[in-house]
Amino acid sequence: MLPAVLTIDGPSGAGKGTISRLVAKKLGWHYLDSGSIYRALAIAVLQKAIDVTDEASIVEVARTMELTFVCADELTVILDGSDITRQLSLETTGNTASMIAVLPAVRAALLKKQQDFRLMPGLVADGRDMGTVVFPDAPHKIFLTASAEKRAERRYKQLIEKGVDANLSRLLLDIQERDRRDSERAAAPLVMAADAVFLDTSEMPVEIVVAEVLHIINN
Ligand code: C5P
Repeated sequence: MLPAVLTIDGPSGAGKGTISRLVAKKLGWHYLDSGSIYRALAIAVLQKAIDVTDEASIVEVARTMELTFVCADELTVILDGSDITRQLSLETTGNTASMIAVLPAVRAALLKKQQDFRLMPGLVADGRDMGTVVFPDAPHKIFLTASAEKRAERRYKQLIEKGVDANLSRLLLDIQERDRRDSERAAAPLVMAADAVFLDTSEMPVEIVVAEVLHIINN
């Protein structure tokens, strides 16, 4: 029998990372932050100065990059031997990730890397297409969203807490642009799976969202 999966999809800044990590911890399950795989690939593409439309070269990097997630107190991400943890959260990284994520062959090259996270006793997978493409047979699916303004505010606070310089109105524009690109792309666009539960977290504190998600899994 395949290990259980809970998929949590939704737009940038909806709180998927925070909620997924907390739920995975409560359940004792593994956690896949699929956005960080797209972000790591974006860093490699930027480092190698590859054009974001050069699909064949990006696929080659996706196939050959060595990516390791080291889970201690804080998560450390190693790309081809270098620590890229700090670069992962930069806005340029996220924007480049969303540009290369429109390329179908790139998505296909990353598919197995994501499916390999499905290990016992279970997996919480967060992203855009976890419930629609990567784990379509997942028994539990959630679509998590919040207004663009709330999401920009949350991202702003996260970045400031990490000591990264940020501008709220610039972040809102970036979020709107990324929503548009993620929703309108032909390959695995951001859509809610037909069998997912919809949760709007604009006015919900984190603990309530976590309790709601656990309730959904247990029912
Ligand atoms: O979630 P995060 O902001 O880290 O993702 C960065 C970008 O990677 C997204 O804007 C999206 O374009 C892409 N992505 C994706 N599919 C996923 C996860 C992320 O296309 N499953």
